[in-house]
Amino acid sequence: MSRLLVKGRQKLSGEVSVQGAKNSALPILAATVLAKGESVLYHCPALSDVDASCGILRYLGCKARREGEALVIDSAGVDRADIPDALMRKTRSSIVFLGAVLARTGRAKLCFPGGCEIGPRPIDMHLRALRQLGAEIRERHGCLDCRAPYGLKGCRVALSFPSVGATEDIMIAAVTASGTTTITNAAREPEITDLADYLNRCGARIYGAGEGVIVIDGVPSLHGAAHTIIPDRIVAATLMSCAAVTGSALTLRGVVSSHLGAVLPVFEESGCHIRVSDGDLRLTAPQRLRSMRVVRTMPYPGFPTDAQAPLLAAACFAEGTSVFVENIFENRYRHTAELIRMGASIKTEGKVAVVEGVPRLYGASVEATDLRGAAALVIAALGAEGQSEISGVRYLERGYERLEQTLSDLGAEIRKV
Ligand code: EPZ
Repeated sequence: MSRLLVKGRQKLSGEVSVQGAKNSALPILAATVLAKGESVLYHCPALSDVDASCGILRYLGCKARREGEALVIDSAGVDRADIPDALMRKTRSSIVFLGAVLARTGRAKLCFPGGCEIGPRPIDMHLRALRQLGAEIRERHGCLDCRAPYGLKGCRVALSFPSVGATEDIMIAAVTASGTTTITNAAREPEITDLADYLNRCGARIYGAGEGVIVIDGVPSLHGAAHTIIPDRIVAATLMSCAAVTGSALTLRGVVSSHLGAVLPVFEESGCHIRVSDGDLRLTAPQRLRSMRVVRTMPYPGFPTDAQAPLLAAACFAEGTSVFVENIFENRYRHTAELIRMGASIKTEGKVAVVEGVPRLYGASVEATDLRGAAALVIAALGAEGQSEISGVRYLERGYERLEQTLSDLGAEIRKV
């Protein structure tokens, strides 16, 4: 198992281009199952979660190959409607293949085990909506056997919570349904809009993505299309946290600052100076961060739950107390125990984490247990006194493209062993 060795308190400097968004690439890869022909996805990040999705596509009969920064998918040859357990278990987001396979083939058989590192991952909203669209779904011990022998029929779907995955699954299932589907209380994340942009390029008729109400007029079929994936706003927030804890100035290239509307004010609150100029973002950190006050995670456009762990790591170094409230997932503070081993002062109680800033953290041997928690440990190690050893690097590789290489190029003393 590879580990990261980090010697802390090295200043970072220079500029870095932000990778394509993992949480945009994954649903778009599932959606290519619907497009009968070749799609070219530019700015697609090289991640283990992307590889896992390509494994599912190949199993279903698609061709998937990387051409430099682009991923080329040809879904003309889809000839299967089942996804083996081993492939489903490799990434949490594979549930979004359900709507795609069902819409393309009229059948879908897959197992979706609940629970992962950050909490139970129920799919009740996905299943309820697909049944409303006319799917017959039999569930047994997390295994689903879905049929839509007469195709799917558009209808009105009201989500009880603006679930990102459910919104994506329904959108994908509805694009070739007969009639119109309206999703109310839809998720508004930029990745939803990016998925709709790709599908519309393939001939879909989706209106209102990014708003709370999305209307989809069904079309008979979709063709392939070329699409450039949006930058990853969570990777941007992670890199900004790396600069924040090392008192550095960094320039991020290819950032959509409007995707970070709820994140930038938190960095500014903590004393970071941020300048945005057409697609670039320059962050200059103070010698020592101030408290972030209160950070509540919310559905977009609120503060993103995926940025909670990286910013909480930075808050450990701040002068003053910061309070985090995690409203989206049940178990997203697991990494705080490892931060405490490095000298952080954190008290968690249910949704709330109270972080009392300390002048120093100290390098330690720590273990990551989930993707964003792993990023938090890297950030803490960069700002800590001395050497840290971080295990569980496989979690990092799910969402960050060569993070240690990027940080090393910016001046950090970090290497993978
Ligand atoms: C997506 O997960 C992202 N993953 C997550 O990013 C992100 O944290 C999350 O959206 C929220 O923004 C991908 O896009 C691949 P949800 P998803 O459905 O779709 C509950 C990362 O680190 N819920 O919006 O699973 C659910 O339990 C990952 O990159 C139901 O109760 O998120 C959770 O508490 C982590 N029933 C809440 O809704 C359902 O049917 C939000 O989940 C579906 C969800």
